[in-house]
Amino acid sequence: MDVEATLVPALYLLSAILFINGLKQMTRVKTAANGNLLAAAAMLVAVISTLLDLGSIDYRWILGGLVVGGLIGGIAAVRVEMTSMPEMVALFNGFGGAASVLVALSVFWGDVVETQAGGTPWSVLGGVPAVTVCLSVFIGAITLTGSIIAFLKLQGKLKKGAPILFPGHHAMNALLILGSLGVCVWFVGFGSGEQAVIAGLVLTGISLFLGIMLVLPIGGADMPVVVSLLNSYSGMAASAAGFVIGNPLLIIAGAMVGSAGLILTQIMCVAMNRSLMNVLLGGFGMDEASAGGNSEYTNVKSTSPEEAAMVLETAESVIVVPGYGLAVAQAQHTVRELASILEERGTQVRYAIHPVAGRMPGHMNVLLAEADVPYDQLVEMDEINGDFKNTDVTIIVGANDVVNPAALDEKTSPIYGMPILNVHESRTVFVIKRSLSPGYAGIKNRLFEMDNNMMIFGDAKKILQGLVNESKELSKAA
Ligand code: TAP
Repeated sequence: MDVEATLVPALYLLSAILFINGLKQMTRVKTAANGNLLAAAAMLVAVISTLLDLGSIDYRWILGGLVVGGLIGGIAAVRVEMTSMPEMVALFNGFGGAASVLVALSVFWGDVVETQAGGTPWSVLGGVPAVTVCLSVFIGAITLTGSIIAFLKLQGKLKKGAPILFPGHHAMNALLILGSLGVCVWFVGFGSGEQAVIAGLVLTGISLFLGIMLVLPIGGADMPVVVSLLNSYSGMAASAAGFVIGNPLLIIAGAMVGSAGLILTQIMCVAMNRSLMNVLLGGFGMDEASAGGNSEYTNVKSTSPEEAAMVLETAESVIVVPGYGLAVAQAQHTVRELASILEERGTQVRYAIHPVAGRMPGHMNVLLAEADVPYDQLVEMDEINGDFKNTDVTIIVGANDVVNPAALDEKTSPIYGMPILNVHESRTVFVIKRSLSPGYAGIKNRLFEMDNNMMIFGDAKKILQGLVNESKELSKAA
């Protein structure tokens, strides 16, 4: 059988089908893990078919790369904490961008060498392939350095994640974008030789610098949106690289990552009531003190797990609102245990999921699924918001911004207009967190001063464990 003519395209098609199905399954919590497996299988088929497609070449470097890359990826995936997942995704995006740059530059370089040796070049320069080399290098390089800055910001290693904005920053970025367009024209316009090599190197340099400049002004709170956008960029760069090397599967897979990342970015922007331009221009959260992050609180009531357990004993309906603190405390199993005790008593328990609770899309769903919380108890914001007014007790576990009423009526608040969970409408609200410190947006939360609100200060897992113990005692005594 002619392997190249029949088997390879068939395997490419199989891989593309697996990718599409995998992505589709990832849109539902129930099927997401399966979708992930399908996508991994698709990648395996893609690698095997590409190796077959390459024919008889020296595989030693490729195998070495597979082993080293596989080991690094495997160890990182096992070791990474759930709370550090956005950082890991940021790094992976950066690697994707770097790979596209290297693929495009190596094809370009091979062409230059061939031209100089007097052979027949594969015509990278001039025409469509040169444009795709430009796109691959431009988008890939921005993705690489932008992702490194995003990683450092998420880790708090770069000015603790605060926006960094130089005077004339945006004008400089506009100039850099225009400059890269000019260099692209220069690159495409020059057939071969030194000029094109210089243009290629200048384009790579400008794009690497642009990636840094574009992400620096964006604050830590917006980093998940940026990571999703960079994810989309890495897909677009890969798709362009697919055109450079004439690989249809890379074009398809890259386009899927590109569009999925863009859709996710849009969903997040809508959930925060921000435009993408507003996120990209940055500066959000720069003025934390004036926004109220350091404001003093008055009239805050606090209580103990013992007293809270007594209130819960008489509650007929309870809504749990998980937030970033639940992930930090790894309290998902304990919250589930508390819910089971309440349910045994006949209390209705549901979980209200805000679309941007936590630090990445679907963060709360993943955590609660890990603790085997039934999917039908996870209720999206729009569906549950009308029910808070008929709810006896709402327990907020490490959430802050997503329940901040300032978003509803404080026009000067940086989160004004962001849809929130209307927890303040419940009869009683318990907020479990360690202190009165602000959440990611760095602003005061008026909920903490409301009459129906009581703080239970402490680490979420410890407080929930206290609630579990007290509730068990009460159940025994009843
Ligand atoms: P945040 O507003 O960030 O608040 C989390 C709270 O958890 C903090 O106030 C913190 O208070 C508490 N906490 C931390 N560790 C804790 C622990 N061990 N035990 C108990 N509490 C703990 O979280 P949120 O309400 O989930 O909102 C998410 C924020 O991220 C929003 O501003 C959102 O716009 C932003 N964001 C999210 C996304 C995605 S996709 N999720 C994307 C972009 C932006 P203490 O320090 O006092 O304990």
